[in-house]
Amino acid sequence: MKWTPEGYVKALNFASDAHKGQLVPGTDRPYDTHLAKVGMEVIAALQTHPEADGELAVQCALLHDSIEDTAVNYQSVESNFGEAVAKGVLALTKDKTLSKLAQMQDSLRRILEQPREVAMVKLADRITNLAPPPAHWTREKCIAYQLEAELIWAELGHASEVLAARLRQKIMDYPIPTERTSF
Ligand code: NI
Repeated sequence: MKWTPEGYVKALNFASDAHKGQLVPGTDRPYDTHLAKVGMEVIAALQTHPEADGELAVQCALLHDSIEDTAVNYQSVESNFGEAVAKGVLALTKDKTLSKLAQMQDSLRRILEQPREVAMVKLADRITNLAPPPAHWTREKCIAYQLEAELIWAELGHASEVLAARLRQKIMDYPIPTERTSF
C-alpha cells in the first residue's frame, strides 16, 4: 500500500496531540519537528522501495515515540491505525524495565521480528537524531551515542540501502566534542 497524504496527516495530528508541549531535547522546537523529519526521511527512502508498504512506514515514523513518551497506549494506536502499525510502534518502544544497555538490544530484536518498514523507521530516527548533540552532552555520551548508531546500522542496515548509506554518512560526520582541559 502506498503512503497517502491523508494517512500522513492523520498520524501527524494524532502524534502532535499526544506530544503536545514536548520539545526536541536541547532545542526550543516542538517535538513534532522531530516526527516530521523522521517521516520525511522515510518518504524519501520509499522512492527506492516501490514494493514497500508506504502507509505502514510513514505512520510508524510519525507515531514511533507515541507509546514510549506520551500517555498513548498500544490499544489506542491499534484502534486508530490498525494492528500492523500498532505492533510496529510497540517494537520501536524501549522496555524501560530493562537496563539502559539492554534496552537497545531488546528493541532491535523486536524490530527485526517486524516487517522491514519498521526497521526503516529506526534507521530514519537515528539519522535524524545524529544532528549536532546538545551542548551539555559529555564527550563520553556522544561517543556512546555514535557507537549505538553503529549497532543500529549493523543490525538494520539491510532494510534499506539508501537509509543505511545516509546513516553511515551521519555517523562519520557526527561531531565528537574534544575533552575539556581542566586547570
Ligand atoms: Ni525518535
